[in-house]
Amino acid sequence: MHARLHSQIDLTGFRNEARDLLAHQVPPDQVHWETSSEPGSEADLFAPPAADAPRTARSIPRAATAIVPASFLRLCEVVVLHHEPQRFALLYRLLWRLVHEPTLRNDPIDPDMLQAQQMAQSVRRDMHKMKAFLRFRPVPDEEHPGELLHVAWFEPTHHIVEAVAPWFARRFANMRWAILTPERSVRWDGQQLLFGPGGSRADAPPADAGEALWLTYYRSIFNPARLKLQQMRKEMPVKYWDNLPESRLIGELSAQAPERSGSMIEEPARAPQRRIPRPVADTPAATLQRDGIGSLAQLKAATMRCRECPIGEFATQSVNGEGRLHAPLMLVGEQPGDQEDLQGQPFVGPAGKLLDRALEAVGVPRDAVFVSNAVKHFKFELRGKRRIHKTPTQREAAACLHWLEDEIALVRPRALVALGATAARSLMGHAVAVTAERGKWLERADGLKVLVTLHPSALLRVPPEERDAAFAAFVADLRKARRFLDEHA
Ligand code: URA
Repeated sequence: MHARLHSQIDLTGFRNEARDLLAHQVPPDQVHWETSSEPGSEADLFAPPAADAPRTARSIPRAATAIVPASFLRLCEVVVLHHEPQRFALLYRLLWRLVHEPTLRNDPIDPDMLQAQQMAQSVRRDMHKMKAFLRFRPVPDEEHPGELLHVAWFEPTHHIVEAVAPWFARRFANMRWAILTPERSVRWDGQQLLFGPGGSRADAPPADAGEALWLTYYRSIFNPARLKLQQMRKEMPVKYWDNLPESRLIGELSAQAPERSGSMIEEPARAPQRRIPRPVADTPAATLQRDGIGSLAQLKAATMRCRECPIGEFATQSVNGEGRLHAPLMLVGEQPGDQEDLQGQPFVGPAGKLLDRALEAVGVPRDAVFVSNAVKHFKFELRGKRRIHKTPTQREAAACLHWLEDEIALVRPRALVALGATAARSLMGHAVAVTAERGKWLERADGLKVLVTLHPSALLRVPPEERDAAFAAFVADLRKARRFLDEHA
């Protein structure tokens, strides 16, 4: 008996066929599964999924379907994405056996079950690799003159494009992008995902200028003494290297590694670079002129494009300051967090809630101040599905400094509040011992006063029994800013 599916990933079709076959007691070895790969099947594949009702008039005993555990349905969702042609036969055999062999669900080493689980694992790994090793390259967007389309080429092992595309849509919601693979392509126009047939590597753009900058950075951070080629190949299989600009450097850098680590050992220790270089211009007009910035909107557009350090490549969007021009007080944090990165606004996550509470306690409404960050993109490390905050390096903060100075030049606050060490260093141009200096007013070379205090997330980390006291001390610091405002009203 032939069971026909509309596409390589036709889960709905599989479920309907399997229910039908099961209801009619058709044993697995009598079913031949066929997937359509004809071009005409495109439309069906991306039509909204059909209702789960059986497509034939044949009635299906409820008992047969109810017996399947929910975990099996979840397994099916992943295994159908595997490239193995026999996957539907395997899943139907498992379904049949789950119904006819009640002990199967408790057998941890059943070969069919193990095979399905390994296939699911391989699909999940492929999805992870696509998220980690896909690189967009900007090209002029023909449909939107003057704007950019970000295009990436990727060769997944399994049929995962449809499954991963929503993740990219959430992650890169604010840019227009397209992903080309040999089998499928997908485009995000800012509103919806549009799927189409596959492409070829030649359809994807070549390396661009931003990439040259990234390569220079990668070269500079590459530590020859920590090179572990085997581990690197395991984490980043060679098949993905073609998509990764930095992979072109691996041969060259690993060949030089013994020599470079030798000279690193011999070199006398260098004093760490402590000062963040100040932007050259010093008046607000000159600061803005240097970057060609005339408004907060222009600043936003410029930071969105910024790739002066590698953080921007991975963040969803840049997060600039928020508030009104000429707000008397500007509060500067470190960098946007996970929530800020997704929403495009500063201090809207847990640290922001705490800051709002403290501002309320000193009687300063949030919309009376301008709130921003030293670094405009979210730096994080992926742990499973979670994006964990990573402190920006001094170089990254230094690369972002001219944007912060542009913001200060546009807003023209009367005073600044540095929330934490990164902000204090950026605003003052040198390291500030925040615990010692908190609650004190420092003065910048341009005469602007900077009140130093802790970052609100530091308060979130103190043990619960010390939280009230820490919050009270934070409020006491902010009260000094409030007093400054009153005195200079
Ligand atoms: N932490 C920051 O420094 N800034 C934000 O915007 C959010 C959290």
